[in-house]
Amino acid sequence: MGGHPRDVHAGDQGLTMRISVDSDKCTGHALCRAAGPNVYVLDELGFNVTPAGEVPLELADEAVRGALSCPESAITVED
Ligand code: F3S
Repeated sequence: MGGHPRDVHAGDQGLTMRISVDSDKCTGHALCRAAGPNVYVLDELGFNVTPAGEVPLELADEAVRGALSCPESAITVED
């Protein structure tokens, strides 16, 4: 997890996001990783193997951008 400052637009204090990846949908585009390098983990073939779970607030916008960037809509993010 990187620790450098970033522009996060999260209004609610204490908000975390929950992410989950549907490995059946992931085809290895790797755009999620490009948009969310501190959130998403790929295996050696480029498939998203990020474990489902809570994302810290400072990474919430990366998580959302990564999810939106996936052409297969393999990533679910929820508040
Ligand atoms: Fe897979 Fe989508 Fe990322 S297809 S590698 S979850 S951009």
